[in-house]
Formats: sequence, structure tokens, C-alpha cells
Amino acid sequence: MIKKLLTLSISLALSTTATIVQAEGDVNAGKQQAVACAGCHGADGNSPIATFPKLAGQHASYLIKELNALKNGSRNAPMMAPLAMGLDEKSMADLAAFYASQTTSSNPIPILPLNEDDEDEEDEAALALIKKAQQEKLDNLLAKGADLYRNGNLKTKVSACIACHGIKGEGNQPASFPVLKGQHTDYSIKTLTDFKEGKRHNDPENMMNMIAKKMTTEEIEAVSYYLSVMDHKPLTTKQSK
Ligand code: HEC
Ligand code: HEC
Repeated sequence: MIKKLLTLSISLALSTTATIVQAEGDVNAGKQQAVACAGCHGADGNSPIATFPKLAGQHASYLIKELNALKNGSRNAPMMAPLAMGLDEKSMADLAAFYASQTTSSNPIPILPLNEDDEDEEDEAALALIKKAQQEKLDNLLAKGADLYRNGNLKTKVSACIACHGIKGEGNQPASFPVLKGQHTDYSIKTLTDFKEGKRHNDPENMMNMIAKKMTTEEIEAVSYYLSVMDHKPLTTKQSK
């Protein structure tokens, strides 16, 4: 399975490099244009809002591919579409070069939200127990996410993410496979759910649709939490006291 996927990704990588010979973007020109994007994606591409994707450190090839898809409507995103429509090929290349040259910010250690009932808990001992249980739940999610990333799920035939997105979540520039490490949890959950439900379907050969379709909601959550802290060394989950 993995071998097959690797062959697929390598042949795709080769075909993509052969067909797309993109002009190098101009980082400085891109920086100036990125002012229009800063409100949602941050001045350096590290989006301040967790449902908006970070663009900093993303591969230029993938950014250009997505901007074209957002412009021609093959990727449906009402908030982004009008912005993408105003971009020509040169602006896309410049913007992509700028964001690719920036560094992805590291996310803080995640905290699972408390249930509404628990938020009002005034008994300190009881609250400490609730927090401990939340911590264990997060640790389990991260372990499950790491396992899925590396090994996939043999039983349900979910492919290992590592085959295309790399050991460190670094993606693959020639093949336009996106960087995933350090992405916001909320955005990864949203976009994986969109792939699962077929709302996002601009991926080559339906690669991500086929994978996400087989993932459970819990697996999507687990792997998204894992991606968000994948760059932490060592993988940190414990809140400092
Ligand atoms: C009003 C807020 C807003 C503004 C302004 C905005 N974006 Fe976005 N952008 C979004 C949202 C929301 C998404 C995620 C869409 C989805 O859920 O599929 C997105 C997605 C993207 C993606 C796809 C990223 C990925 O990881 O797949 C790219 C590339 C992008 N935006 C580039 C830009 C550029 C370049 C500009 C400025 C010209 C810009 N955006 C301005 C809200 C915005
Ligand atoms: C066969 C190769 C392949 C495998 C295996 C794979 N992916 Fe992907 N993934 C892709 C490609 C290609 C895209 C870009 C889709 C596009 O062009 O819109 C993508 C996109 C994504 C995105 C969207 C990134 C963004 O910025 O919007 C997420 C999240 C993602 N993959 C997560 C995963 C996870 C989690 C797994 C493992 C369960 C996985 N992928 C396995 C090829 C793969």
C-alpha cells in the first residue's frame, strides 16, 4: 500500500515538475501585495485566527495551485474567492514567493476546551480532576494523531500521511503537497472535514477525498491536534504549572 502510494507520489512529482515551469516570484513585490491579505492571514502569513490557514512557510507551488483553484471556483471558499479573483499570474507568484519565504510560527501548547457545565465548577479539587481528565484526553488524542500520521489505519485503509506530507510534515514542493506542521488545529479540522464531505475536491486524483472519507471524526481531530504541535521538540502536551 505504502509502496504503491510512494510510487504514485513520485510519479506525480515528476509529472508536476514537467508541466509547471513557473516563473520565480518576487518576494518584495509579494510583500507589498500581502498587505491586502494581512487582516485574515497576518502580516507574515501566520494567521491570527485559528480557522484561517497559516500561509507562512508553505510551498509556493501549493499556494499558486490553491490561488488558481480559489479564483476559478474549483475550490469553493466564499471569503477567499473575491480576493483570489483580483490576482493575475504574476501577483500569485509574487505572493506565493513572499509567504514561502516566511517562517511558520510555533503554536502554543493546546488546551482542550472544558464542557459548559464544568466551566462553572467552583470546587478547586473537582476542577483539578476535570483538568487532569482533559489533559489525559489531549495526550491520548496526540498519541492517536501521531500514530495515524506515521502508520495510517490498516483496518480502515487510511493511508499514512507521512508518505506524501513527509516525516516532519514538510510536504513536497515539486509535487505541490502542502506543509502541514504548525498549522492551526481548527483549520486542519475544517479542511479535512470538507475533504471528507466532498465540499473541497480540487485535489489531484481525489487523493485527499479518498483518504479523508475513511477517517472518523475523532481521527480528524486527533491528527489535526498532532499537526499543530508536530514541530515541538519534544512533542509537548503538558501545561506548565
Ligand atoms: C476575509 C478574510 C481573508 C482575506 C482578506 C484573505 N483570505 Fe485567504 N483564506 C481565507 C479563508 C477563510 C481561507 C480558507 C478557505 C477554506 O476554508 O477553504 C483562506 C485560504 C487561503 C489560501 C489556501 C491556503 C491553504 O492552506 O490551502 C490561500 C493560498 C490564501 N487564502 C491566500 C490569500 C491571499 C494571497 C490573500 C490576499 C490577496 C488572502 N488570502 C486574503 C480568508 C481570507
Ligand atoms: C497520496 C498522497 C497523500 C497522502 C497519503 C495524504 N495526503 Fe494530505 N494532501 C495531499 C495533497 C496532494 C494535498 C493538496 C490538495 C490540493 O491540491 O488541494 C493534501 C492536502 C492536505 C491538507 C490540506 C492542507 C491545507 O493547507 O489546506 C491536509 C490537512 C492534509 N492533506 C492532511 C492529510 C492527513 C492527515 C493525511 C493522513 C491521514 C494525509 N493528508 C495523507 C496528498 C496526500
